[in-house]
Amino acid sequence: INKVLCTRLKLPNFSTIDNFVDALKSAKQILVLTGAGVSTSLGIPDFRSSEGFYSKIKHLGLDDPQDVFNYDIFMQDPSVFYNIANMVLPPENIYSPLHSFIKMLYDKGKLLRNYTQNIDNLESYAGIPADKLIQCHGSFATASCVTCHWKLPGEKIFSNIRNLELPLCPYCYEKRKQYFPASDPNEETQVENPLKDRILNSFGVLKPDITFFGEALPSKFHKSIREDILKCDLLICIGTSLKVAPVSEIVNMLPANVPQVLINRDPVRHAEFDISLLGYCDEIATLVTQRCGWEIPHVKWKELK
Ligand code: APR
Repeated sequence: INKVLCTRLKLPNFSTIDNFVDALKSAKQILVLTGAGVSTSLGIPDFRSSEGFYSKIKHLGLDDPQDVFNYDIFMQDPSVFYNIANMVLPPENIYSPLHSFIKMLYDKGKLLRNYTQNIDNLESYAGIPADKLIQCHGSFATASCVTCHWKLPGEKIFSNIRNLELPLCPYCYEKRKQYFPASDPNEETQVENPLKDRILNSFGVLKPDITFFGEALPSKFHKSIREDILKCDLLICIGTSLKVAPVSEIVNMLPANVPQVLINRDPVRHAEFDISLLGYCDEIATLVTQRCGWEIPHVKWKELK
């Protein structure tokens, strides 16, 4: 409440979309914080909405659907993730009008940084350069061996993911076979010692470089956010429920005189914004762009080729 009062005092009448348009036109260092809602118009489900990804895996009977992205569970049984990974495998070469809106802010020299929680890597297809993008929860762009940390391009394991196969590190494969003598690694049987087996289940398994619950965020996040909260002159949160820390904490890290705007289909009740534009982000971005007298670069909804 104090933060909101302090913000309102510093920015009187900052309560209409036209004032947001004015702030957008005058801002030079915009921090855009995005979540799964910026990709749903492409058919990629978000996580917590009624039709979201977590509702689609209820049949697995997990205590918490987020367990499919739990690091400790992955290390004991990688199949919990690999049985559903094909459902979150990102499409390639498409992006939404909202992604284009962020690219437009970059083109106008207004984008300080886009902190995305999304792992679909679509920001890169929209042309947002790597130095302006923080993929807070990693992405499918690369994958690594959980044992020797050998890194490879993510698309090298996409066929394993599509075929529901465990992708194995070639450098750890021989050693893994000592623990799992089965000829076909995907036909491995449980060895007699359950504890030993559970620890070894992930030996030499390749994992996409997405941040699981229980894993640290990429160091790039912590380094950038310390600098960016001091440079930012406008925060726009788009398509996120702000339910997952530390990204959700960004709204509390900014100086109170920095205006904060939410563009989201549903209200975010646990955070205070100077203005909340509730609706579909593609449509809101298009309206705001028109009010600014700008053009969102032509959006290619489908294949870029
Ligand atoms: N336009 C605007 N908002 C939308 C749209 C849309 N077209 N579609 C969905 N939304 C909103 C929903 O109302 C919801 O508030 O986007 C939000 C998505 O919230 P979540 O599903 O919780 O996704 P997100 O906030 O990105 O989750 C954060 O949780 O499971 C972890 O690692 C995962 O990065 C993810 C993190």
